[in-house]
Amino acid sequence: MQHLTIVTHPLVQHKLTIMRDRETSTAGFRGLLREISLLLAYEVTRDLPLTMTSIETPLTEMEAPVLQGKKLALISILRAGNGLLDGVLELIPSARVGFIGLYRDEATLQPVKYYDKVPGDLDERVTIVLDPMLATGNSSVAAVSLLKDKGAADIRFLCLLAAPEGVARMREAHPDVPIVTAALDKRLNEKGYIVPGLGDAGDRMFGTK
Ligand code: URA
Repeated sequence: MQHLTIVTHPLVQHKLTIMRDRETSTAGFRGLLREISLLLAYEVTRDLPLTMTSIETPLTEMEAPVLQGKKLALISILRAGNGLLDGVLELIPSARVGFIGLYRDEATLQPVKYYDKVPGDLDERVTIVLDPMLATGNSSVAAVSLLKDKGAADIRFLCLLAAPEGVARMREAHPDVPIVTAALDKRLNEKGYIVPGLGDAGDRMFGTK
């Protein structure tokens, strides 16, 4: 998989435009995020290996492809990652799920972990990290480092929007981690928000401010 995949499918782009609109309600935003996450999950799992198995259709025997059985882990970066989690889990219900909580130390501006609970056998799994906004990349890089420390070796990063700064930061720190996103926006503003973006994904999703 290439380092950056932008999912240009018309349904994804259409849904994203409605999500960006400031007039879109919390319920509307959440519903669209769930729908779009299904479509993004389709892309991030595109290269999962298949194997052939024998089955019988009502008409005949045949050799047909099934997933080779590579196990998956979905890691939600709290709290906005949970918005992507529901849709992805719908598509891959047997995946194991982990959570990582990070906050930004206002003095150092560096991410500090306050919570992590992830599957114990990440070395055997394809690990998909879920965080809607790849902005500065600081928390994403920290989350991926934590997962590598715990043994994860096949990691992919799934987001809704990415900023060039975040993509560059990830490419520098974790060149082996492909990123799948619905759009690559222009830049970050002075507060670290993606522009044009969609605002604070967690606030839009949960109706907080
Ligand atoms: N996190 C968000 O929710 N929005 C941004 O624009 C950047 C980071």
